[in-house]
Formats: sequence, C-alpha cells, structure tokens
Amino acid sequence: MIKKKPGYTVAILGATGAVGQETLEILEERKFPLASLRLFASKRSAGEVMTCQDKEWTVEELTESSSFEGVDLAFISATDAISKEYGQRLGAAGIVVIDDSAVFRMDDQVPLVVPEVNAAALGLMPRGIVAIPNCTTTPLVMALKPLHDAVGVKRVVVTTFQSVSGTGSAAMDELMEQTKDLLAFRDIKIEVYPHQIAFNLLPHIGSFNDGGDCSEEVKIAKETRKILNAPGLRVTATTVRVPVLRCHSEAVNVELERPLTANEARAALAAMPGVIVYDDPVKKLYPMPLDATGKDEVYIGRVREDESITNGLNLWVVSDNLRKGAALNAIQIAECLVKN
Ligand code: A2P
Repeated sequence: MIKKKPGYTVAILGATGAVGQETLEILEERKFPLASLRLFASKRSAGEVMTCQDKEWTVEELTESSSFEGVDLAFISATDAISKEYGQRLGAAGIVVIDDSAVFRMDDQVPLVVPEVNAAALGLMPRGIVAIPNCTTTPLVMALKPLHDAVGVKRVVVTTFQSVSGTGSAAMDELMEQTKDLLAFRDIKIEVYPHQIAFNLLPHIGSFNDGGDCSEEVKIAKETRKILNAPGLRVTATTVRVPVLRCHSEAVNVELERPLTANEARAALAAMPGVIVYDDPVKKLYPMPLDATGKDEVYIGRVREDESITNGLNLWVVSDNLRKGAALNAIQIAECLVKN
C-alpha cells in the first residue's frame, strides 16, 4: 500500500517504449497526483526529454547503480530481465511495483489485477509487487466477469487477433517499413518476427511448448483462472499476430453453466464498468481496432447464442492493448492503491 501524500514520486522503467509513452500520456490525462517523475530506459535513450503534466523530464539510463531514493511507485514495462531484477529489488526496498511482464503474474504472493474485476486482491501484496495481466487476458476477463457472476462460465474457447504494438515499438516500425517496401516493390527486412508480418498473419505468439501451445496461449488460460478465482475454469486459446498497429481483437466462445439469452448477455455486459456494448449488425456496427484505438473501454459486439452447444454464447471483444491492455490498467491500479 502507498502512504497518503499530496503527490507521489513515480518511476517508469521502459519510459520510451510503446507502453511507457502511453503511461506518460495517461498520467497526464487522468491528472495522477505526481510530485516527481523519473524516466528510465536503455543507454541509447538517455538524455531524451519527455513531457508530462506540463513539465519536461529527462530519460536516465537504467543501470545497476541507478538510485531509486524517494520513489513511491514504479511502473515496469521493459524486458522480462528488467522486471525480474528491478521488480524484486524495488519491491524489497518498499517501493510499490506495478509490473507489466509475465515474470510475477502466477506468483501466489503477487496479485494479478484488473481493478473492475478483482480490485480486492490488492489488499494482499507481501512482495510489494502487483502484476498486470497479459494484454489479451485483461479484455477477456472484463467480458467474462459479468457472465460468470450471472450464470457461471464453464469453458472458454478464444482466438485472438493481436496487433504488432503488443510486441513493442520495433514491431510497429517493422510493419510500416515492410508495407512501404512491398508497395514500392523493394525487398523487405524481417527482424522482429520470424516471418513477414505485412499482408500476412502469424499463428504464433511467444515460444512453443512441447505440446505445441504458444506461451501466450498458456498465459491467457492461467491468468484468466487466477483473476476470476476460478481454478476449474476450462480455457483454450489460439493466439494470432495480425498486421494491425494497435488494438487486440478476440473471438470468444463461452459455454455457460446456466442459460443466458443474447439480450440478457448484452445487458450484463453493458452494466460492467469499463465495457461498451457496440452491437448492431443491421447497422453494420461491431467493434473494430480502429474504433477502440486510444479508447479506455473494452468494446464488445457480435453477441450471439451458440446453438452448437448447450448454453453457448459467442462474443467479439476489442480493446486498445496499450491502454486497457497495459498502461491504463496499471495506472488504474495505482489510483486504487493511492485512494486506499
Ligand atoms: P529504449 O527505448 O532505450 O530501447 P518496447 O516494448 O516498445 O520495445 O519498449 C521497451 C522499453 O524498454 C523501452 O523504453 C526500452 O528503452 C526499454 N529497455 C529495453 N532494454 C533495456 C535495457 N537493457 N535497459 C533499460 N531499458 C531497456
């Protein structure tokens, strides 16, 4: 927990990255009570100046000897190695760490939190670390929570369509460069992904395990069960990288414990804080990545009963992976900790 103060000293590890930059924007937008800001990145960004809340802040190189004296709260969104090293170190030093990596998510002593779903889990954080879920898990649990509360969710089959910004700014540049090169009939460079991403899609996110699952697919299943506190919930995922810059989309098939009509599901979803039901196929209204870009809410449409199974429901879920999928969720957690 964070001691009450008029303003907090906040550190961002990975400030120059896709999520770090979004964090700065959201701290400004939501007028987070900042006393001071410390921005950290790699050597190549040291000295860069970034603006937040009408002040300029200079990026520092993150090194073993970096001092975090006076820091109340640290957002980490850099690499797994940085989360591992600095998450533990800062947490042990009494700094509240909000971590965006998978390093701590399944640790029993680290709450994994989406405030609209399980803010109460913040009551117990013995390591001083709270983890934010994978950018596909967050919108998924926002969709599942009201259905689970209403009638119980038994099994979930999810296919994701994940934008390149989930991989970071280098992947966004790669998509743009490949697209420009292909349109100009030039050779392309393939550096971030194992294959061309422009005009293509890759059914592969993370690393493969012996059973052939991608690490992203395993994360979605485990994290969903932890956040919903539903250890018996059956979840299977297929994760796909698509040539979209921003926003992750998910086709979700849900098997419910008890019946729920599509209209009842829409009403339950619409009552969920942070969710917008955007569902009028006659008017060609359904959520698309371009609709959700830069938005805080999780958009849900194409709500349909699935008659191929008992108590089945289909949903289409779209959310900005850099916002609710990462930076916004982290800042909402900070707001909860500061308020309480
Ligand atoms: P930098 O921009 O200096 O490379 P993204 O997810 O968009 O790729 O961003 C990753 C973030 O993590 C960036 O801010 C990047 O800084 C930072 N980062 C990556 N490696 C290191 C490192 N070894 N030390 C400090 N920051 C790092």
